[in-house]
Amino acid sequence: MVKDQINNLKNEAVGEVLEAKDEKSLEEIRARFLGRSGKINELTKEIPKLAASERGNIGKLINETKITIENALRESLNNLKERTSENEAWLDVTAPGIKSQEGHLHLVTETISEITSIFSRLGFHRARYPEVEWDYYAFEGLNFPENHPARDDWETFFIENLENDKLGKGILTPHTSSGQLREMESFKPPIRMINIAKCYRRQSDISHAPMFYQFEGLVVDKDIAVTHLKGTLDFFAKNFYGPKRKIRIRPFHFQFTEPSFEADISCGLCEGIGCKFCKQGWLELGGAGMVHPTVLRNGGIDPEIYSGFAFGWGVERNLMMKSGLKIDDIRLLYNNDLRFLKQF
Ligand code: FA5
Repeated sequence: MVKDQINNLKNEAVGEVLEAKDEKSLEEIRARFLGRSGKINELTKEIPKLAASERGNIGKLINETKITIENALRESLNNLKERTSENEAWLDVTAPGIKSQEGHLHLVTETISEITSIFSRLGFHRARYPEVEWDYYAFEGLNFPENHPARDDWETFFIENLENDKLGKGILTPHTSSGQLREMESFKPPIRMINIAKCYRRQSDISHAPMFYQFEGLVVDKDIAVTHLKGTLDFFAKNFYGPKRKIRIRPFHFQFTEPSFEADISCGLCEGIGCKFCKQGWLELGGAGMVHPTVLRNGGIDPEIYSGFAFGWGVERNLMMKSGLKIDDIRLLYNNDLRFLKQF
């Protein structure tokens, strides 16, 4: 009778242990069966009431039952712990991942790509000519008189102990126009070049950097006229700044173009009406003109047969104008401050 009760308790306890889902339930089972006032202890109290011959066996059976229940509890607890640590290591491939930081190309690099792509649609090929240049390509061959202010060391960086008998002093090129003669020496007309390169001048303020980029267009062919120049600049303005923008050219002077122009773009903020950002609706972009006959001749091209136009604008200045008022100091582009660069 007592024996049956013990076996029933054992089965009941082990059954519950196997069903238990967490540690708390196991603790509760332990207390209910093995605790001081648990079911097993209650049964133990019955032993003295048994016949003396039975007591030994029943005592033994009770101990075995306790051990069986203990073992079941321990095993179940271990299984639960194992399952929890497996859960922790489990990888949910559908869960949203941790995003790695994404960068982007520098604003100036992005702008250079955009400019290249716009002009390539008109058949211009991208050229790069030396940053360390001879005076001849930057000045002499471009018709600059010997006493022109750009040729003294106020604006131009001269390189010490670098001089060529024919080509003059070594300099850091102050403008991409130095690529005009190099292009004419390398290619015969028709020429459609877009030379984008670094230029250097002894200047530094909110709109001047000592190192900056220019993009120089050069077209040489038969019957090239000012209208081709105007059309090309318009195409650029509409593609770079937006379809509503217009270009105007007004007379100016450069040594290496005749006639020469300064090109302006209609203001994007007031759309040409006039506001505090612009000059009566227009913003200055850069220089342009028809290639001077002397320059064509210096490049080995007969000005009686061919004519051409050229323009040279600042990459950063155009980028600044496109951004409206967001970049108010050109030098911010080269300070490498991520707080600034991340905004774009
Ligand atoms: C020239 O450099 C001429 N070579 C342009 C040219 C080419 C005229 C072909 C005719 C035919 P200018 O010195 O104005 O011109 O410079 C042209 C542009 O370069 C300026 O409008 C400006 O956008 C940019 N620029 C000039 N100096 C700096 C500077 N220190 N920092 C940033 N941009 C500059």
